Amino acid sequence: MWSICSKMVKVGMAKPCGLVKTCHLVKPISATRITGRYLTHQKGLPSLPVPALQQTLERYITALEPIVEVEELMNTKQLVSDFQKPGGVGERLQKGLERRAHNTENWVAYLDYRLPVVIHSSPGLVLPRMNFNDKEGQTRFAAKLIAGVLDFKTMIDNETIPVEYLGGKPLCMNQYYEVLSSCRLPGVRRDAVVNHAKSSSPPKHITVVHNFQFFMLDVYNSDGTPLTVEQIYVQLERICSASLKTNVEPVGILTTQHRDIWGKTFVNLIKDRTNKESVLAIQRSIFTLCLDGPMPEVAEDGYRSCAAAQMLHGGGSLWNSGNRWFDKTLQFIIGEDGTCGANYEHAPAEGPPIVALIDHVVEYTRKLEMIQSSTGPLPMPKKLHFNITPEIKKDIEEAKQSMDVLADDLLMRVIVFNQFGKNFAKAHKMSPDAFIQVALQLAYYRMHQHCCATYESASLRMFRLGRTDTIRSTSSASAAFVKSFDDPDKQNTEKVDLMEKAVKAHRSYTNLAISGQAIDRHILGLKMQAAEEKISIPDVFKDPSYAKALHFRLSTSQVPSKTDCLMCFGPVVPNGYGVCYNPMDDHINFAVSSFNGCKETNAAGLAQAVESALLDMRTLLEQTPRAKL
Ligand code: COA
Repeated sequence: MWSICSKMVKVGMAKPCGLVKTCHLVKPISATRITGRYLTHQKGLPSLPVPALQQTLERYITALEPIVEVEELMNTKQLVSDFQKPGGVGERLQKGLERRAHNTENWVAYLDYRLPVVIHSSPGLVLPRMNFNDKEGQTRFAAKLIAGVLDFKTMIDNETIPVEYLGGKPLCMNQYYEVLSSCRLPGVRRDAVVNHAKSSSPPKHITVVHNFQFFMLDVYNSDGTPLTVEQIYVQLERICSASLKTNVEPVGILTTQHRDIWGKTFVNLIKDRTNKESVLAIQRSIFTLCLDGPMPEVAEDGYRSCAAAQMLHGGGSLWNSGNRWFDKTLQFIIGEDGTCGANYEHAPAEGPPIVALIDHVVEYTRKLEMIQSSTGPLPMPKKLHFNITPEIKKDIEEAKQSMDVLADDLLMRVIVFNQFGKNFAKAHKMSPDAFIQVALQLAYYRMHQHCCATYESASLRMFRLGRTDTIRSTSSASAAFVKSFDDPDKQNTEKVDLMEKAVKAHRSYTNLAISGQAIDRHILGLKMQAAEEKISIPDVFKDPSYAKALHFRLSTSQVPSKTDCLMCFGPVVPNGYGVCYNPMDDHINFAVSSFNGCKETNAAGLAQAVESALLDMRTLLEQTPRAKL
């Protein structure tokens, strides 16, 4: 019996919250902390539906229209028609999927992602620069941040996190219960995720890493109360003083490796008892705090891009990539220069719950005054030792090299588009998200002169244990709009009309997706069902159109936040872009990434093209009186 438990989200195919190419059948997941009001809320949520087969297949053909050639589409239509013949393989797989939906809580599952989690799947999150610029400021801010996370944890422990809503419907809150005290476990063939919050003795410590050295810091007093900010500060100072040496083997960099390699190294690493205990302490910890060393100096206008890279990968082995444990679900990262953010391992949760936690923490740090005094001496935080054999040392050197190649290959560009924000689209009676997505389509088309398969994550949290499905942003309507926009033969009124149609098409796909009626998870489920039933993969999945549909050259996500922060991630295909944005009322933050190794793509160019597209769309709307529409 399996279910798709929204674990590893992209396998070279989609963005962090995206679809996987290869999936693994896993045991049905069950919600954490099945007690009290949380359970009552969860029980009231509907299960993820299985859409009707014919509906999905029709929508699949429609989605292919703007991205495949006419002959390819004709061939695909034939394959789809064979697939859905009465009594045929499609019906059989659909029935299997429906049975599964009936017997499990959530029928979609993703796992088996083997590329490094760094850049490929773990998003970074960068906050506006904080108001400090030295070691003491770094430590003081870190103490407040830890206290803020513990404050949020109290809400998790008491099950008092306010239920969230989307379009008036209550959302599944399970992801909040999965992000603290959890960790990804490397496996030789396949990883797992463990959540120690569920254990009979949940952890009371965090891990702190400074100069590549790990420490176990108890953050609760013996009476169960959290340490005060002043107490945490004192403990952090002790950690920093005990880890001044910088020529230490950066054992954490092993977690940046390809999962097959890290899986093997891990077995070797934990043969040593000390190493095993240290690793377990990291895995069990509530979260990791990374007190970073410096990053390369950059001009002020490049600061946010550099900070985003620091959050995403740490800058390489010469900088902070070894000052991490990338398997850890949640790592907060603080530099001495006021840089602050996080990196999170994607398996247990999507961006929005992480951002909600971070919003809470940032607001907490703003309100907090360090006036509480210590209640007495605390034990010295425990240093986590590692015995490095020559073999492990070799693995560390190899990990450094791979990490450096990966970091050098990533181009990250962060822009703050400050000409307008979501209020502008609202004033024009358009969905802001759809408006931004259409602008992205225009920007991409202007750069590459074609339309590509585009992924945007849609929340499935209206359903119990729901994660995401795909909003296919490229539609026939968006293609018609982008092709007409720079055409001098087209009238402005026609262009506005096409823009409105494209925006509406996007919003209507969004509505489908969030109500569980999009196509991608369903098609994936059918394919997995074929594997489960051990029948040969139907031709419709071997079709070049199917490969094109899953080659997301634009992998995008909206992750809104109250605190002006910005999530970022890498592209999901070698010749693609990763685009994450946070639309605020009067400005929009964008993080755009591409791989330097690809000559066709250029994150800086796309970021600029997005700015131009947004401005040109505004000009068009403002120059075209609505009465004429
Ligand atoms: N006229 C005026 N206002 C409109 C409008 C219109 N035609 N259409 C929408 N709006 C308003 C909405 O009411 C909303 O108002 P609010 O700011 O008061 O809440 C606002 O504009 C934003 O709506 P919209 O831009 O359409 O997007 P959304 O907030 O519904 O979000 C998704 C769309 C797809 C991003 C969201 O449904 C979702 O799924 N988010 C989760 C994605 C995710 O998990 N990402 C992380 C992956 S790691």
